[in-house]
Amino acid sequence: MSEVMTQLSQTNLLRTPDQVLGPFYPIVQKADAGGDLTRVAGRPGRAHGLVLNLMGRVLTSAGIPVRGARIEIWQANAHGRYRHPNDTSSTPLDPNFEGFAILTTDQEGRYSLKTIKPAAYSVAPGRIRPAHIHFEVLGHTEKLTTQMYFPDDPHNATDLLRNSTTRPDALNARILDGNSDGEAGSKIALFDIVLAGG
Ligand SMILES: [Fe+2]
Repeated sequence: MSEVMTQLSQTNLLRTPDQVLGPFYPIVQKADAGGDLTRVAGRPGRAHGLVLNLMGRVLTSAGIPVRGARIEIWQANAHGRYRHPNDTSSTPLDPNFEGFAILTTDQEGRYSLKTIKPAAYSVAPGRIRPAHIHFEVLGHTEKLTTQMYFPDDPHNATDLLRNSTTRPDALNARILDGNSDGEAGSKIALFDIVLAGG
């Protein structure tokens, strides 16, 4: 019995913590469905910023891949600005970055998106949100709204939203160097998402 219990506990993954939707859920722009936010169809340029190959899996608490999960991803640009009417900051928009994608997980529960690293941004005097990427994940039986963070961001420790969960480190991506996408200096960001039941 104890051996069975141990095996169960090893696959008893904790659900990814929820985070607020935030005021910049995309309502204006069309979602990119091609898995690449670094270029806009019909434009010759590339989005400003550090290229990030964002990838991971959607799993149940038992470690089973969630196939066909729908993932919405939205984020600020490399200047910390959202393409959204509620974002009235003076930082610039990037004509080559729209910042909104819809993805579907494959047979192994995997997703991937080529994007850029967003910048931290100010939300009030003395209050800066660390760099983050918003996720809304629709599985077969549940929905998760969350935000992904970068472990080395100096604003993580004081961010009220990130620390609204008891497990904020579960929202950190793992950032790796090196890949074969041909973009100098690009990074890989690994972020697995756990839905309790899928
Ligand atoms: Fe945000």
